[in-house]
Amino acid sequence: MSDNILQVRDLCMSFFNKHGELPAVNHVSFDVERGKTLGIVGESGCGKSMTSLCVMGLYPQPQGKIVGGSILFQGRDMTKLPPRELHKIRGKGMAMIFQEPMTSLNPVLTIGDQIMETIRLHEHVSRQEAKRRAMEMIAMVGIPMPEKIFASCPHQLSGGMRQRAMIAMALSCDPELLICDEPTTALDVTVQSQILSLINRLKAQTGTSVMLITHDMGVINEMADTVIVMYAGQIVEQAATADLFAHPTHPYTSGLIQSIPPLNREVEELNVIPGSVPMLYELPKGCLFAPRCPYATARCAAERPDIVTASEGHQVRCFRCMPGWEGQ
Ligand SMILES: Nc1ncnc2c1ncn2[C@@H]1O[C@H](COP(=O)(O)OP(=O)(O)O)[C@@H](O)[C@H]1O
Ligand SMILES: [Mg+2]
Repeated sequence: MSDNILQVRDLCMSFFNKHGELPAVNHVSFDVERGKTLGIVGESGCGKSMTSLCVMGLYPQPQGKIVGGSILFQGRDMTKLPPRELHKIRGKGMAMIFQEPMTSLNPVLTIGDQIMETIRLHEHVSRQEAKRRAMEMIAMVGIPMPEKIFASCPHQLSGGMRQRAMIAMALSCDPELLICDEPTTALDVTVQSQILSLINRLKAQTGTSVMLITHDMGVINEMADTVIVMYAGQIVEQAATADLFAHPTHPYTSGLIQSIPPLNREVEELNVIPGSVPMLYELPKGCLFAPRCPYATARCAAERPDIVTASEGHQVRCFRCMPGWEGQ
């Protein structure tokens, strides 16, 4: 039997504004298995960040509301817990790192003080013990001269070092689930691959589960055990990573895979999917991907497909996978 640390079922989060109700996270279901990495992939604006912010209980409020579904973390429903309980779980149970470390690092405190503060917020340890652990964490994320970094403020560090410092802070309380939202998007390729290997090494050392969000299928291929592909708030395809790359079934997934830049080569013309992700206030009537889909038919423009099982452990939201499809 699988051992899931996180079970998200039929999660719906909407924004409410002058346009009415905007479904940013639209009936999303997935599991994160203990010690494994779940990848969430999709272009910008597909609902990846909102999905992970719902899991953390940190989605924008009051504009955003969870209007349905559940988020079971270690058996407790995060959508029903009071803020005080959520606060306790964040840090100790789950922690998050972002694309831009400055959003979670305090610019006026030293890295050491921030890590110590995080540790002492969640555990009753002496200053001395917190300091010892903070130094250990800084060394663990591969920062040379930990003493120097301990005493530095974030702006004194390079982007890659700041990202390492944020990872050290996130891991300082030994979370069971680490959520990484585009952790390497702002970094150059060399630093990007260092940070990804760091996350993999820490995962192996600590046994933490990882939710990794990226727009880059190359990163997914390297890191994830299972993948969900999101488009305009919905999951359009879900499978084990090897299966997804061997048999990409949704036209959006195929498009993302074809957009992976070839290794070690300057890219002149990337095979990008024409068109763009729809705004939530002007979603198409039928399949949300139909306006960009090379295979779309009249039915696709008129009706929304459900997500169906294409093969064991592999689900797809596309009429082409449904019985009786003959290109109607
Ligand atoms: N405060 C807000 N009010 C209305 N819509 C929002 C707000 N914040 C984000 N959105 C919309 O929610 C959708 C999902 O955003 P997000 O989860 O950030 O996408 P991703 O992380 O995949 O790039 C987007 O269409 C975005 O425009
Ligand atoms: Mg995002």
